[in-house]
Amino acid sequence: MKIIKKIALVLLLVLIAMQFYRPAKNLSQGNHTSDFIAETNPSTEVQVILENACYDCHSNNTKYPWYNNVAPLSYWLSDHVEEGKSELNFSAWGSYSNKKKSHKLEEVAEVLEEGEMPLKSYTLMHSEAELTAAQKDAVIAWANQSRLLYELNQQPQ
Ligand code: HEC
Repeated sequence: MKIIKKIALVLLLVLIAMQFYRPAKNLSQGNHTSDFIAETNPSTEVQVILENACYDCHSNNTKYPWYNNVAPLSYWLSDHVEEGKSELNFSAWGSYSNKKKSHKLEEVAEVLEEGEMPLKSYTLMHSEAELTAAQKDAVIAWANQSRLLYELNQQPQ
């Protein structure tokens, strides 16, 4: 029993110490996705869906929930954002090649068709990111259409 109490105390101290280390936040001012919006021209409906369901992990601006103040949840969130952004960052759209833009839009349609995104752990805490079939269809249709435009632009003149 004594040893269990000691272990619990050590764990508690570690947990308290962890609270002092906060990962840097992913925050941006202003219109961080303007390149992306201007080029791919999503409807207001699609914009709202992407903002509510995707931007937290795929843009330079995350709306943090209260539990981001609690380590180790803050580390876990920060990892998701870093990993998500390295795959796809709507705020960095202007720096992507046409080929990459087209490929990313193809992936967007795929992850929605397969129900892979938004991550389950995310929709659990963000019910507004739980997409209806109609919402998914709207995003998929827009992604396929903008993708086509990039594909056409890639043709030699
Ligand atoms: C909670 C964070 C989070 C949210 C919210 C989120 N993603 Fe992701 N996304 C990730 C992470 C982490 C990865 C990389 C690992 C993986 O593929 O599972 C990823 C990968 C991707 C990829 C890469 C392709 C692939 O096949 O893996 C695409 C495309 C994508 N997400 C699209 C979306 C879209 C569209 C939404 C909104 C409908 C969204 N994501 C919402 C975290 C998130």
